[in-house]
Amino acid sequence: MRIDILSAVPQLLDSFLNYSIIQRAKDKGVVEIYIYDIHDFGKGKYKQIDDYQYGGGAGMVMMVEPLDQLISQLKSERKYDEIIFMTPDAHVLTQSVANELSLTDNLMILAGHYKGVDQRLRDLHITREISIGDYVLSGGELPAAVLADAVIRLIPGAMSDETSALTDSFQNDLLAPPVYTRPPEFKGLKVPDVLLSGNHQKIAEWREQQAEKMTREIRPDLLDNPSLQNKG
Ligand code: ADE
Repeated sequence: MRIDILSAVPQLLDSFLNYSIIQRAKDKGVVEIYIYDIHDFGKGKYKQIDDYQYGGGAGMVMMVEPLDQLISQLKSERKYDEIIFMTPDAHVLTQSVANELSLTDNLMILAGHYKGVDQRLRDLHITREISIGDYVLSGGELPAAVLADAVIRLIPGAMSDETSALTDSFQNDLLAPPVYTRPPEFKGLKVPDVLLSGNHQKIAEWREQQAEKMTREIRPDLLDNPSLQNKG
């Protein structure tokens, strides 16, 4: 898979790209990630990429021309499955959307300013808009990194233990059950006997029960409305 990320602050993405799973996935050739600096397509001597909004109001808006030039150039080089704009004004990212995107070949992700981009850019090029939650961040770089991480770890070969992504929280509309490792007892707290029993069927049943219990306590909305997990 190839992921192109368009950003006005590409330095913000550096550490993310060198983080273990992503680095391993890149080393294994499972994913290629390219970062494009929108300023390279900025207008005039000062490489301007944003401007005041028509009609007045606080906050700068990303201009249509630099982004249109950059996106058009990339589109002329390959076909993109999705051109995604990270914005709080969108459907919230779910595991189901990450699963779907992990099956694609070419993704472009635009990390924008909070105040947004000129609507004409959205009309011309954006095929999907994704929020990472009902709160506002100062830029789209962290959201772009979150989306890329959620997608990349699902690509076969990206993780050392391929079954583990499938047992994540949300993969079956439930939160993940508790996990333990050695020692079997710590400060008086014991690992549940069933996990030490070696009985795989009993262990699977216990995990299922715990997952349901946790979901009921923490996120009952998922049980009442499992379709939440299936919307983009
Ligand atoms: N940009 C700013 N806030 C965001 C959010 N919550 N999700 C996606 N992009 C954003």
